[in-house]
Order: sequence, then structure tokens, then C-alpha cells
Amino acid sequence: SAAEKGGHDYFMLKEIEEQPEALANTLRGHFDGGRIVLDEQRMADQDLRDVDKVFVVACGTAYHSGLIAKYAIEHWTRLPVEVELASEFRYRDPVLDRDTLVVAISQSGETADTLEAVRHAREQKARVLAICNTNGAQIPRESDAVLYTHAGPEVGVAATKTFLAQIAANFLVGLALAQARGTKYPDEVAREFAELEATPAAVQKVLSTVEHMRTLARDVADSKAVLFLGRHVGFPVALEGALKLKELAYMHAEGFAAGELKHGPIALIESGLPVVVVMPSPKGRAVLHAKLVSNISEIQARGARTIVIAEEGDDTVRPFADELVEVPAVPTLLQPLVSSVPLQVLAAEIARTRGYDVDKPRNLAKSVTVE
Ligand code: AGP
Repeated sequence: SAAEKGGHDYFMLKEIEEQPEALANTLRGHFDGGRIVLDEQRMADQDLRDVDKVFVVACGTAYHSGLIAKYAIEHWTRLPVEVELASEFRYRDPVLDRDTLVVAISQSGETADTLEAVRHAREQKARVLAICNTNGAQIPRESDAVLYTHAGPEVGVAATKTFLAQIAANFLVGLALAQARGTKYPDEVAREFAELEATPAAVQKVLSTVEHMRTLARDVADSKAVLFLGRHVGFPVALEGALKLKELAYMHAEGFAAGELKHGPIALIESGLPVVVVMPSPKGRAVLHAKLVSNISEIQARGARTIVIAEEGDDTVRPFADELVEVPAVPTLLQPLVSSVPLQVLAAEIARTRGYDVDKPRNLAKSVTVE
């Protein structure tokens, strides 16, 4: 009924709006007097100190959350982090031993590919930490430790609030590692630590873009393809934006690292093609920002219709943005928590405009229990 859907036509929009709460519930209890506690974790600080490399294994949207984790964990801890699709991981014969930490991310905790990756890692004596949204599911049961996301049940087949919760959980793992092992950037880590706790309010603010995304969705619903570009943590956000659009609107959508444009994808740009660009903060990593501005001007000059997701007050992008979607300022590494939200709404609303069932896209299951 409409009441169950929080007055919306479909659950996914309700779940998008529940994201501030999903994030707050996932973070709650883990900040204790300036320290991160992973209380559900059966891993001592000493275990975290012994880690000499990290693998993240997951599928689909959860994999995209892992790609974001890599930027944060490598920067904060100087540990090498590899992120791998669970379905590729064990067939590749990865180098694992007892000092390897494998982080297995799965909303359902029942995804067969991820479960097999966990089994493979444990056979090789690696330690496995599961990030999961479902209490007592198979993946946490077979892992050495578990950090639960508390996004609540997700009805829509397309992951939204569980994605934001996974990103937050990844940050908690990264901060716990930095705390146990020390960091080269104590001031920055302290700031990100403090601002992570404040991100639910930023996500609440970004929900004010829903109406704009709805109008925009009607404008681009007839396009034959949509491209998504980003750099740094904006790159996985672009991949996730494209995945949402494929899943829900059955459109050709692709995410690229913006720096790769000139190595091929720029040939796809033609008049009127919508290109979504995920901008980094102009105050954070200024070089990245400048590079992206130049990418947007190139594609705009070739006739693309640019839809730019940028930090509020970022006036430098205005001349290149056919559509500007403003998101609140947060530290660069935390930006995916806000910049992903308008892309979720865009995909859902394009799907709805095209007449599809947003909550139950064709051919997809919420939990994929076969390899
Ligand atoms: C997300 O919109 C998809 N439904 C899918 O990519 C999903 O994230 C993937 O199947 C992994 O599921 P899991 O988190 O339950 O393991």
C-alpha cells in the first residue's frame, strides 16, 4: 500500500529517504570517547596491527562500496588494499596468508560468490571480517568477525540505504585500522573521524535534490545511453550510478574514470548525450577538481548535455554545467555518501518515467544464492 511505501509510489524512494537514519544507526555505538570501537568484532587490536594487506571482496553495489574503501584505507593506513569481484577472487589464486585481512561485504550475507570467496580466504588462513546487513546470515556465520550495518530491511531490489551503510562500515574499519596501527595523517584522520559522525545530517540535506532529479529524469528518459564520469572516490560513485540505471531503467549506462576519457570513451560523445559528472570538492583535492573541470569542458564542447554533481558554492563548474546538482560540503573521502544519492533518484525516476516497476526490475533477484 501507499502507506507502507511512506506515501511514495515505490519502496525504493522510501528507502532513499531513510538513508540518514540507516547511516546514523550504522555509525551509532562505534564512536567512544574519540575512539572507534568495532564491538561486534572478534578481532583484537593486536590482530589489526598484524595485518599487512587487505582484500575487499564483494559483488555489484557492495563491490562499489569496497572500491570507495580502498581510497580511504590506503590513505589512512598505508596498507595495500585490493578490491576484487568475489566471482573472480578465488579463481585467480590470490596471495593470502594469516596476516591478510579479507573484508567480505554483503547486504544479504547469502550471496554465493561472496560466500565462496570467504571460504577460499579462510582455507588459505586469511582472517575474514564480514560487513553484513542481515543478522545471522551465512557469510557472517562463516567469518572470523562481523560488523553489522543497521540499514534495516530493504525491499527494493536495487540497493540504496544498504550501500550508504556499507560505505560507512568500511570507513569504520579503515579508522579502526588507522587507530590500531597509527597514521601518517593524524589531523586529517581526526577531522574525517569527526565529520563521519555528522554525515547523516548532510545526507538529510541532499534529499532536497529529489524534486530536481525527478524533473531531470523526465528530460533524459528518452536518451539511448547515459555516461557517468568521476575521479578518485567519485569514480566508484559513477560506476554505481551507471549500475542503478542499467538495473532499473534498462538503459545503456557506463561509468568511467574521467582521466580515461581521452583513451577511448570520448569517441562516444555526441550531441545531446547526457553525461553525469561527479565533481570532487574544490577545497579538498584541488588538482582533481581542476582536472575534472577540464574534462567537462571537453565533453561539453563536443555537444554532450552535462549534468554536474558538485559541492554547494562551487561556482567554477557553473559555465560547464547544463544542469547543476548541488550537494553539501563534506571531506573528499566521505563525499560518496552525499553524491550517490541524486544518482539513485535519477535512476529510479527514469525507470518510473519509462513505465517500469522500480522495486522489482526484470531478471534480477534481491539475493543471488547461485554462483
Ligand atoms: C544492487 O542494486 C544489486 N541488487 C546487486 O548488485 C547487489 O548489490 C549484489 O548482488 C550483492 O548483494 P549482497 O550485498 O547481498 O551480497
